Amino acid sequence: MRRRVAVTINGTKHEHEVEPRLLLVQYIRELAGLTGTHVGCDTSNCGACTVELDGHSVKSCTVFAVQADGAQVTTIEGLAKGSTLHPLQKAFWDEHGLQCGFCTPGMIMAAKQLLERNPNPTEQEIRMGLEGNLCRCTGYHNIVKSIQAAAKVMAPGAERKAPAPVS
Ligand code: FES
Ligand code: FES
Repeated sequence: MRRRVAVTINGTKHEHEVEPRLLLVQYIRELAGLTGTHVGCDTSNCGACTVELDGHSVKSCTVFAVQADGAQVTTIEGLAKGSTLHPLQKAFWDEHGLQCGFCTPGMIMAAKQLLERNPNPTEQEIRMGLEGNLCRCTGYHNIVKSIQAAAKVMAPGAERKAPAPVS
C-alpha cells in the first residue's frame, strides 16, 4: 500500500505517494529530481548517497523514504548560497579534491558533519571521519587537503595546529 510522505529537502517541501520500500536516495533523485546525491553501491559501503537527515549525516540508501516523513533533508545542492559556494565546496575546488566527481557530494556531506563535530581535526581524524566514504581511485590525498583547508576557513578564529602533512 502506498503512503503519502512529505520531506523538506533544502528548504523545499516535497510530497509524494510512495511504496514503503522506496529508499530515501531514490526519493531524492527520482521524485525530488536532485541528482547530486549518487548511488555508488548496493551494500551501504561507498557513502556516495550521504545526506543530512534532521542534521545528522546518513547514507540515504539505508533509509526508507517513509522514515523521512516530516524530516528536513539537506543534499549537496543545498550547500551553496546562490553563486557562493560552501567553504567545503570551494576548498575541494581549490585543493583539487574534485576528482571523478561521483563520490564528491558524499565526501563533502560527510566532511561537513565531521567539521561540525570537530572543527579542528587532525589528518588522522579526517581520514577516520571519512572511513564510510570510498574513493574508488584511492585519491584521498587531495580530499584530505581540501578538508584541512575548509577547516581553516570555517573556524577562522580558532587556534589550530599546523595541518599535518598529508601522505
Ligand atoms: S549508495 Fe549508499 S553507501 Fe553506497
Ligand atoms: S574521486 Fe570519486 S571515486 Fe575517486
